[in-house]
Amino acid sequence: MSYISISNLSKRFVRRGQWTEALSSVDLNIAKGSFVSFIGPSGCGKSTLLRIIGGLMKAEEGGIKVGGRSPQEMQADKQFGFVPQAPALFPWRTVLQNMNLPREVNKRSRTDLAEDEADPIELLQAVGLGDFLHAYPKELSGGMRQRVGIVRAFASGAPILLMDEPFSALDEITREVLMHQLVRIWEQHKKTVIFVTHNIQEAVYLSDQVVIMSSRPGRISRVVDIDLPRPRGEKIIESPEFYQYVVRLRESLRERWEA
Ligand SMILES: Nc1ncnc2c1ncn2[C@@H]1O[C@H](COP(=O)(O)OP(=O)(O)OP(=O)(O)O)[C@@H](O)[C@H]1O
Ligand SMILES: [Mg+2]
Repeated sequence: MSYISISNLSKRFVRRGQWTEALSSVDLNIAKGSFVSFIGPSGCGKSTLLRIIGGLMKAEEGGIKVGGRSPQEMQADKQFGFVPQAPALFPWRTVLQNMNLPREVNKRSRTDLAEDEADPIELLQAVGLGDFLHAYPKELSGGMRQRVGIVRAFASGAPILLMDEPFSALDEITREVLMHQLVRIWEQHKKTVIFVTHNIQEAVYLSDQVVIMSSRPGRISRVVDIDLPRPRGEKIIESPEFYQYVVRLRESLRERWEA
């Protein structure tokens, strides 16, 4: 069953009197509770597609439904949690107060939330921030702030999380640690996650499906199902199956570059 269904979607921008076709004839179905990554060259329309799914931007052509409704209705109903490259944390609020912010803004009380909804303190502990609940953002490193941004989305009560290159500003080791933490949290709280990345390993490790995009205009060139067992332990990265997926995705991306 498709939760997010996109059919024949096209998006154009006009700049200095010239039209750019950012997305062309995009068809895609995403199942509820799945983890889907978008990967593709810079400018192929990944962020644009994410914004359209999240109801922040409209396409000129084609249809998109999220949970049977329009993205704008879903957005108005606070069904999306956004995780950008650098999270917006309020400097005068502690980590825990920042964590509770989306729920306060959305006027969701604990009782509105599903039984199995993530607990903010447990989530912060799961990403190694248990000792920083009452710290202020300026006392955190960039990677720690990014962790807050990610787990805050899980605690927001929103069933769909849209993450646009959340790890791109981090060093390699921090990125790896966060990737393992994210997969563990997601496997516990199966929200629908749309994750944009430039990193092939990250896409394979995290996802149920990887959507490969090509540019000018942005199209979906391939959707690869990642049939690796879950839960995904760190060891999986060393397995031949994992390596095969990485090679396959790299080849698909290269074809698109050379085309
Ligand atoms: N608001 C806008 N106005 C005009 N053109 C835009 C706008 N947003 C995006 N574009 C154009 O649409 C195309 C797709 O941009 P988008 O940001 O979606 O790419 P992307 O795949 O996210 O790239 P990156 O990997 O660099 O983040 C680009 O050609 C970009 O210049
Ligand atoms: Mg982008």
